[in-house]
Amino acid sequence: MAKATATANANIALVKYWGKRNKDLILPYNGNASMTCDGMTTTTTVEFSDKYKEHTVVINDEEFKKDEKDIHGHIDRICKLAGIDEKARVVSESNFPVAAGLASSASGFAALTVATAKAAGLDLDKKELSILTRQGSGSACRSIFGGFVQWHRGQKEDGSDSYAESIADKNHWPDFRMVTTIVEVKKKPVSSRGGMAQTVATCPFYKDWVETAKEDLKNVIDGIKERGFEKVASTAEFNCLKMHATMITTKPSIIYWIPATMEIIHAVRQMREEGLHAYFTMDAGPNVKVMCLKEQENEINKSLQELEGVIKTIVCRPGDGTKIIEKHLF
Ligand code: PMV
Repeated sequence: MAKATATANANIALVKYWGKRNKDLILPYNGNASMTCDGMTTTTTVEFSDKYKEHTVVINDEEFKKDEKDIHGHIDRICKLAGIDEKARVVSESNFPVAAGLASSASGFAALTVATAKAAGLDLDKKELSILTRQGSGSACRSIFGGFVQWHRGQKEDGSDSYAESIADKNHWPDFRMVTTIVEVKKKPVSSRGGMAQTVATCPFYKDWVETAKEDLKNVIDGIKERGFEKVASTAEFNCLKMHATMITTKPSIIYWIPATMEIIHAVRQMREEGLHAYFTMDAGPNVKVMCLKEQENEINKSLQELEGVIKTIVCRPGDGTKIIEKHLF
């Protein structure tokens, strides 16, 4: 088949990936874990044909020019694996703002990899797809799977043991909620790729981040298995604060937060004072994701929406992994 369409959901890390031990293969310094989110989806159609003279990539109606993410290079990687010379036309649509710390590259690279591999005639299992996706964008390898997912750090130089795997599927804990609170939709000033490279190179606490992430990962995995909300969410919140502490203490300092970010952090802490079970996490951007359970979702979501700096919220449940669908975008 020379044309295929795939969907992928974004994922939000509960234990963050922050720092590469190998930049070419995208191998992380620390194992990490995430929830795949049902409300934030990318759909991508890929067609190979000899009528195309070069790869073209259209994302949300705009032609994508080559940048450090190197989508074109990722398509070439898959072509090489499949042994094909034809060029691809790629059209991709996401239903949420891209490049604002909302994990758009995760759903984007996962959908791209699955659709391109299928259109190129490759027959890969989920582990192989996750290894291939990882080489395009690290965190994207987790979006291959639904529900709760871990990405193994691995030990091997060739990256063959650094892949994502399911911890539990979405039906294991359907009441878990990730309320994405959007305070800004602008492209972030420092990419996660650049930010993590700078952190590894200059943060004096980077070793401590890697060391303590091991325990966080164990707690989050155990917590997910036993559906222990406080254990998972409080560990995730602390892990996120540690990651931001490493960013803030690089040279030059990277601060992704804006005043509205702080407003939400304080609001969530205030909710806890009042007996609500709410915790926050943030990625390489100013938006805040608030973890809670179904029974308090409405109350927490309403309070977040009333905050001055909040543009909108998206409530996500544990969602599906990547899928091939029949309906093409072109
Ligand atoms: O995979 P990247 O380059 O988009 O980096 C993701 C980094 C964080 O979102 C901050 C953490 C994570 O594990 O998703």
